[in-house]
Amino acid sequence: MLTIKVNDQQHEVDVEPETPLLWVIRDVLQMTGTKFGCGKGLCGACTVHFNGNPVRSCSLPVEAAVGANITTIEGVEENLIVAPSAKAVKQAWVAENVPQCGYCQSGQIMSAIALVKSNPHPSDDDIDTAMSGNLCRCGTYQRIKKAIKTAAKA
Ligand code: FES
Ligand code: FES
Repeated sequence: MLTIKVNDQQHEVDVEPETPLLWVIRDVLQMTGTKFGCGKGLCGACTVHFNGNPVRSCSLPVEAAVGANITTIEGVEENLIVAPSAKAVKQAWVAENVPQCGYCQSGQIMSAIALVKSNPHPSDDDIDTAMSGNLCRCGTYQRIKKAIKTAAKA
């Protein structure tokens, strides 16, 4: 049995220590806002925050999350990330009508929040670098960039 803290709540999970955190979040805790894309750390669909930093939960064994604060998109929806960047990014995503199919968007938002939190005035290059690991099959990149700039001005 492992204890992990997700969205400010402790959860005891009966899984093998090397189980990817993504499986635990989605299958055990039933928080399905975080998506499975490639399973290989390449697409960013599974991005969550680990002590405030974006990580690929498909590539992180759950045992590595013991003792850490994990925040998922559900935590963003519940305003558990108190940084102003989280609210600004959420509002900007709506204002700029970013999502198309939506599949990649929780990962995009988690990466964008971390970027604006650590760099309140990102340049185009900063945005490209920070978001380069989040792929979007629908090609919403221009709207993502615009929304990050909108959030950074908020
Ligand atoms: S599902 Fe984790 S990076 Fe693609
Ligand atoms: S909005 Fe469809 S994959 Fe990004």
